[in-house]
Amino acid sequence: MPTRSAAEFGVVERVLSGAAHCIDPVATAEILPAEAYTNEDFFRFEQRAVMNREWLYLAHVSQVSEPGEVLARQVMGEPVLLVRDTSDDIRVLSAVCQHRGHPLLAGLGAPDTTTAVKLNSMVCPYHAWTYALDGRLTGAPYMRETTPVSQLRETVALPTIRFEIIHGFVFINFSSDAPDLAPSLAKLDELFAQYRAAELLPGAPFVRTGLAFNWKGYFENSLEPYHTDFVHSDTHQAAPARLSGFFDYEEGDGQILTYTRFADGENDLLGASDSGQPVAELPEISGLDDEARSRLLFVAIPPTFFAVVSPTSVLVEAVTPVSAGSTHIVSTIFYPKSTTELPDFGAIHDGEMAGLRSIQLQDEVTQSAVQEALTSRFAPRGIFSWLEATLPQFYSWNLERYRAERHRSWPAGIGGSEESE
Ligand code: FES
Ligand SMILES: [Fe+2]
Repeated sequence: MPTRSAAEFGVVERVLSGAAHCIDPVATAEILPAEAYTNEDFFRFEQRAVMNREWLYLAHVSQVSEPGEVLARQVMGEPVLLVRDTSDDIRVLSAVCQHRGHPLLAGLGAPDTTTAVKLNSMVCPYHAWTYALDGRLTGAPYMRETTPVSQLRETVALPTIRFEIIHGFVFINFSSDAPDLAPSLAKLDELFAQYRAAELLPGAPFVRTGLAFNWKGYFENSLEPYHTDFVHSDTHQAAPARLSGFFDYEEGDGQILTYTRFADGENDLLGASDSGQPVAELPEISGLDDEARSRLLFVAIPPTFFAVVSPTSVLVEAVTPVSAGSTHIVSTIFYPKSTTELPDFGAIHDGEMAGLRSIQLQDEVTQSAVQEALTSRFAPRGIFSWLEATLPQFYSWNLERYRAERHRSWPAGIGGSEESE
């Protein structure tokens, strides 16, 4: 059994024993114990409990739209390649060259902002080992004297990474025994299918690094509409908190959902953000029912995917938990193809991004302040409004995973402290 530190064991014990009421009905539910957001030993535990076992957002299929396109990304520190091979099949490969480890396609720019490149093969920049788009080694110079290339070709390939495509969004999992993702997303499927998200196309992304709050704080803030009337009093009038609604969450669910209906005459939160007046009329995604046309749907697939699904676009925030108190987020708005073909699409996208930035900046201030307050001796455990009904749902998602990992890490039970060393 791998050894775990006594400090990690201690904080896991404190968080789990302090979390008994976190999944109560909303009227009596509590925030997770503060150490779950601030303690680096707990973050290490969370990496095993959550990040190493869960489905992590990689990219959208449209970001490798043609055969031969390869997109390099970093996911939880792992260099990963999303490939559309010459047979038009999607593959996800490790970018780590199997000679001495130089990442393939490194040096093409910051991993989260690169666009795909079209290639016939992938050549490692270090010693020029060459791989086909399906990951097989095809060439390796100066190897005949030790291991002939014909033999290398039989045995060497880029490791393949498990993936699922959910309405065009590619999720990967570094664990071979984690349950499949799709069966856990039935509630999302029912609501989301009509948006035909696999056909949407991305605008230029916006990258934020080193945000000074815990990844769970991000999800909590994004999932509760309570703050929107106050933190975003000038930017969120198109979708007021009082028009929010919630969905059931059951154990095993992979998504947490909430919605907010638009005030009369609105259909776009971001474009309406400056004054309540739309800055541009965005065409709607065709074929939506009246329910979908009347509201924003907020979708969390923890720990890395959050989406704001609107009648005109889908905003995806790709979340990277970096440490207990640091998070990276890349925001990308996906539009119907017809919108991207509008002559003023550039200005439309700029306007939407400007609206998004206004809202994000307001959230960054409050989320950082709350993260700091978690270290206060007077930090509260919360008394929730009905508009925070998603918080105990999100805690359920987390606690299922924390408890499972506790049993894996310390099989003799939490009382067996000798197991921790
Ligand atoms: S590390 Fe890639 S060829 Fe040597
Ligand atoms: Fe907000």
